[in-house]
Amino acid sequence: MNADAGKWRRRASSSAILAAIVFGLLALACAFGLLQPLSQPTVRIGGPFSLTSHTGAKLADTDLRGQPFTMFFGFTHCPEVCPTTLWEMSQALQQLGPEADQLKVLFVTVDPERDTADALASYLQSFDRRIIGLTGSPDEIRAAADRYRAYWRRIALDGGDYTMDHTASVFLMDAKGDFFGTIAYEEQADVRLDKLRRLLAGTGS
Ligand code: NI
Repeated sequence: MNADAGKWRRRASSSAILAAIVFGLLALACAFGLLQPLSQPTVRIGGPFSLTSHTGAKLADTDLRGQPFTMFFGFTHCPEVCPTTLWEMSQALQQLGPEADQLKVLFVTVDPERDTADALASYLQSFDRRIIGLTGSPDEIRAAADRYRAYWRRIALDGGDYTMDHTASVFLMDAKGDFFGTIAYEEQADVRLDKLRRLLAGTGS
């Protein structure tokens, strides 16, 4: 009996010491803010960029303050995703009517080697003329794509040619330049329009 009681006391006191150590470590972790990243995950989409439009004019994120915009990353040699998306955005701009004047629709090339301002200007003649093509140096393009967490990759083709893989979503950005939502590739036309109207109204997506 006495031996058992002694064992219990030892267990109880070692548990108390362990609890005190754990509590102390947690208190220290809180004090140093180590737990903050776990409780407040933040992933920022969007941010500063400085590019050149298809007219040759410079366009930076700060030029867009006060009006919502959409951002799509692609390239003019794209066989399907880009022309489809740009055609669908053209349809949406027409359906929005006068409201569309409040919206900037941006098409950023991830293939600046081929997509010069002139190449973009000629390509965009097939779509709504309000769509703005953007190009820049490889570093400028990489910086913009990274800020939007857009995926893109150059893929070599037979005969020395190449194509690009890229994120197919359209990013919706509010008047403050903050991320608002996305339009998925081949989203239903009425959903696409609804999302754009919400973006223009400044209500949650
Ligand atoms: Ni594409």
